[in-house]
Amino acid sequence: MKAICVIPGKKNSAHLRDVPKPLVADMPDGRGVLVKVLRVGVDGTDKEINAAEYGAAPKGDDYLIIGHESFGIVEEVGDNVTEFRPGDYVVATVRRPGSSLYDKIGTYDMTTDDVYFERGINLRHGYLAEYYVDTPEYIVKVPGGLMNIGVLLEPMSVAEKGIIQAYEIQRRLRVWRPRKAAVMGSGTLGLLATMILRLRGLEVTTFGRKPAPYVNSELVEALGARYVSTLDTSVTDAARQYGPFDLMFEGTGSSAVVFESAAALGKNGVLILSSITGGGKRLEVPADKINLDFVLGNKVMFGTVNANREYFEAGVKDLAQSNAQFAGWAERLLTNPIKGLENFEEMMSTLTSPGNAIKVFVNVSPLPSKEMDLIRTQTAMAN
Ligand code: BGC
Ligand code: ZN
Repeated sequence: MKAICVIPGKKNSAHLRDVPKPLVADMPDGRGVLVKVLRVGVDGTDKEINAAEYGAAPKGDDYLIIGHESFGIVEEVGDNVTEFRPGDYVVATVRRPGSSLYDKIGTYDMTTDDVYFERGINLRHGYLAEYYVDTPEYIVKVPGGLMNIGVLLEPMSVAEKGIIQAYEIQRRLRVWRPRKAAVMGSGTLGLLATMILRLRGLEVTTFGRKPAPYVNSELVEALGARYVSTLDTSVTDAARQYGPFDLMFEGTGSSAVVFESAAALGKNGVLILSSITGGGKRLEVPADKINLDFVLGNKVMFGTVNANREYFEAGVKDLAQSNAQFAGWAERLLTNPIKGLENFEEMMSTLTSPGNAIKVFVNVSPLPSKEMDLIRTQTAMAN
């Protein structure tokens, strides 16, 4: 089968390659689930892997199949699989367990191991291929009604984890009624975080660089949130005008914004850090002031990476709710479809010069038509 691969450590090595098609029998104990890939989203991580800044091949291979934001349909299951049937729509989680206590209890996203395994990123092949196989533990069912936006579930899971953990942490306050939130960044992750926070009923201010109006600012406003361009208003001024921010979600990819956010967080507030900053940036910050405000204001900031299945399941629920509350909104994020795995060069160049792109994704195989899907659901219900 065809797959988009890179040679980790070699710059601009993205290429199409013929690789062995995986089999249900590749997984032990009859627990294999063979998934036909329909769509795969790409993001900054894929760009960094192709720039040789990140990523590693599985042991024994000199290439890595990339792609970690998957959406597919089950084609075949092993004898001991009760969780899925052929025809089910699914998304797969990204990380696979290592050996720490956290890995052993299903929370591989919280691993304390130095080495981590991530499909399409680090030491495990990904999903930019015609098929993948895995075990049910790492696969999450997606209702057919979400088929058009199912490819957003992986970035959704990352936003869900940060927000759910923030609420968990704030139980320290006994009573916490967050009213105002800030989201730093208005790309896919920032937009999805804005949506999740709006579904929870918070007043949300979302920051982006570009001045409004443009697609992203319109998408923010379509959720009933406020868009602020940092070219017009500094984070400090915005916090004074629209805060105090009880919760802040940072996902811009810039560590400078992290410290601006820390300085703008409200009392008893929580700041979620989710930017992967692989560079070596150094910065002068008002350290005493930020520390003093954190201490006197009982503030928290914490890091979050990846997501286990619990957060994918939360993502499924919120995408479904968003369909009801903000009909058609999530689909508008899917701005740049790429026709087939063959067009990997266009995929990479759109990632490097995104223009107005929000989500770039590859149509690996066509989605079933609405009619086909109806027949599929009826047959499934009859069985
Ligand atoms: C992925 C995460 C992953 C992280 C670090 C992100 O792009 O969405 O699942 O844990 O990169 O590799
Ligand atoms: Zn990602």
